[in-house]
Formats: sequence, structure tokens, C-alpha cells
Amino acid sequence: MNNENILRMGKKIYTKNLTPGISVYGEETIKKEGYEYRYWDPFRSKLAAALLKNMSQFISSNSKVLYLGAASGTTISHVSDLTPNGFVFGVEFSKRVAKQLFLLSMKRRNLASILADANKPEEYIPYVPAVDVLYQDVAQKNQVEIFIKNADLFLKKGGFGFLALKAKSVDVTKKPKQIYERVYRQLLERFDVLEYKNITPFQKDHMVYLVKKE
Ligand SMILES: C[S@@+](CC[C@H](N)C(=O)[O-])C[C@H]1O[C@@H](n2cnc3c(N)ncnc32)[C@H](O)[C@@H]1O
Repeated sequence: MNNENILRMGKKIYTKNLTPGISVYGEETIKKEGYEYRYWDPFRSKLAAALLKNMSQFISSNSKVLYLGAASGTTISHVSDLTPNGFVFGVEFSKRVAKQLFLLSMKRRNLASILADANKPEEYIPYVPAVDVLYQDVAQKNQVEIFIKNADLFLKKGGFGFLALKAKSVDVTKKPKQIYERVYRQLLERFDVLEYKNITPFQKDHMVYLVKKE
């Protein structure tokens, strides 16, 4: 899948700014062929890191995306750039950062912020439709359980799931490699596991998985 809203220039990656003139976290912007693009920092975004590690693109310009762990909006702002004809639902449970996410959603026509716990997806069923993409970055002990629960409820058959796994949040006593393998097996029971990438040096002890719902 190709997304025309991504621009690669050598080792740098940019997204076409949905809100020209406005940057979200102080990122550099450039102009190309009449459009403004925002630099996408792989040290601040696991999705940018994954794409630079050659993960296939799985978000199209009309994708509907459910994003768990949206924080103040760094990565989700780029996902919003990627989906000008789609929509992104961002779930965040920390009131402090969700405030910034809410302000961001006010400026972006394809972004909604939801203050909720991704452990309790039944609470946002009324607001979220079936989606093409489930994106998760919550750094919790039960990351895989949260991912599966949300995929069962919201992800369309044939839809893509992206799980950013922080090994240390699952179990600090185990070697990351052991966690990566265990999670791989857990995901295989439920999904078609398409790709997995270790995103060192952008993030330490993180593996990202791309799966497809069968
Ligand atoms: C690593 S940060 C996410 C960074 C963000 N994805 C980005 O790239 O811009 C993890 C976020 O997940 C949120 N989070 C953790 N557990 C959550 C849960 N159960 N429900 C909703 N949000 C959660 C945290 O408050 C935190 O803001």
C-alpha cells in the first residue's frame, strides 16, 4: 500500500501537513511542489521508526484508525496527516496529556480525542465505528490483552493492527528477546503476523508488530 502523504528524502521522512502553517511539537517544516510537509522524528515516533526500518505502509489516505495511547498527539498528528479522507480516533487516559490532544483535535478535521481507558473499550463503543487500522502504544503490563480486546471489538476483518511493544513494561525481570518471542506466539494465535521490527536505535527495548485480522 502506498500513501501519497508521506515524503521520503534520503533518511528523512515527512508527512503532508493537514494544517499548513501549524506545527505540533516544534518540528521542522519544508515546502515541496506547493505543499507543506512536517518532519517526522523517528526518535519521537515509533511509527516513523518502523517505516524507516522498512515496515510496509498500512495506512491509506481514507483509513479509519483507532489509536490507543495517543498522549499529547505527536504520532497521531502524523497519522492524521496520512488520512485526509479518513478519520482517527485517539484514546488517552491521562487527563493532563489528553488536554493537549483535545486542543489538537480542535484544529484537525479528521481527529477526535477520547478520554478513556483502553482496558475498558466497552466505554467508547458508542463513539468508535469499525476501523481499518488499530494502532497501539500504551506501555502497559497487559499490552497484548488490551490489543486483542480492542481488535475483537473494532478492527474490521482484513484490517491492520500495529502494536508497539515495550518489553520492560511487560516484565522487567525477563530479557526483551524472551518477551518478543512470547508476544509473537500470542499474536500468531489470533492474527496473521505480517512483520515485526526491532526499532533500535530509535527506541530501546521496543519491538513493533504489524498484524492482519483474518
Ligand atoms: C509511550 S506514550 C505514547 C506516545 C504516543 N503514542 C506518540 O507516539 O506520540 C504511552 C501513552 O499511553 C497512555 N496510556 C497508557 N495506558 C493507557 C490506557 N490503558 N488507556 C489509555 N491510554 C493509556 C499513557 O498515558 C501515555 O500517554
